[in-house]
Amino acid sequence: MLATADPAFRDDVLKGLAQQPPAIPARWLYDERGSELFDAITRLPSYYPTRTETALLETVMSAIADRAGDGRAVIEFGAGSLTKTPILLKAIRPALYVPIDISGDYLRSSAAQLAEQMPTLAIHPVEANFGNVIELPAEAADHPRLGFFPGSTIGNFIPQSATDLLRHFRATLGAGSLLLIGMDRVKPVERLIEAYDDPEKVTAEFNLNLLHRINRELGSDIRVDAFCHEARWNDMMSRVEMHLVAIREIEFGIADRSFRFAEGQSIHTENSHKYGPRGGRMLLLAGGWTPLAEWTDPARDFALVLAEAQPERFAP
Ligand code: AVJ
Repeated sequence: MLATADPAFRDDVLKGLAQQPPAIPARWLYDERGSELFDAITRLPSYYPTRTETALLETVMSAIADRAGDGRAVIEFGAGSLTKTPILLKAIRPALYVPIDISGDYLRSSAAQLAEQMPTLAIHPVEANFGNVIELPAEAADHPRLGFFPGSTIGNFIPQSATDLLRHFRATLGAGSLLLIGMDRVKPVERLIEAYDDPEKVTAEFNLNLLHRINRELGSDIRVDAFCHEARWNDMMSRVEMHLVAIREIEFGIADRSFRFAEGQSIHTENSHKYGPRGGRMLLLAGGWTPLAEWTDPARDFALVLAEAQPERFAP
């Protein structure tokens, strides 16, 4: 078990727990067990984003297809979801589809499943961190590009990093490209908290899995029952935060370092930023993308925005 430990995981955990306030980057929540639990979260009654975005994609796809046209290279940042991605691909008849994901295994298995659903589609997976500027496969060169970034994954990033990410997307896709992005909207706090602290306790298990992962992969002995899951709304930052809160004083060791948490002290494990219409469009503009059109569900819970990569030219 220890032999497979990712040194980057160890470094992030040690550094994150030593800082004040303690925080560990959210991407470490998504190991195999974490991804399974997140999948279960997307089916919970109180977790509205996935179901709302999927239904929205169905209803607005003909409008998106009208604007994007056939024959695009569709570049998805993150290996596609087998429910959302086919809705787009079937509607716009792309020249090729390029899913980009850091996990090669996950990428290959999801590409294989998609190929079964869409046997004539040309799929060119790229194993890479989508946060970096990526060289696209040669096959994508002669086609106009459409980037796809659903799921409100953008909400995981603090605005400074989200802006960098959008700029990297622009550099990867090129001037004149389109980007279809999903953003979760600001809504009453009670609903947001319910979505991130479900009565079934799946999100709690998802969050606590990070401690189990530390124990499994870094050989430590954290008493997981000394921590509880908490979802907090941070109004100033417009985000839901997940924390692991110590319910009593606790000490534990990781590698050769020891850590002590007082009762009530927490580890910040994830952010989920929520955007109003103006804030969401401002974020895109700051990242080099001009919003062209926006669609929401009737309750305005979730938005899909179509944006165009800003050209390099003077603005007054
Ligand atoms: C995968 C980042 C979109 O923020 O809604 C869900 C992650 N965490 N419940 C979100 C998540 C807890 C999710 N994203």
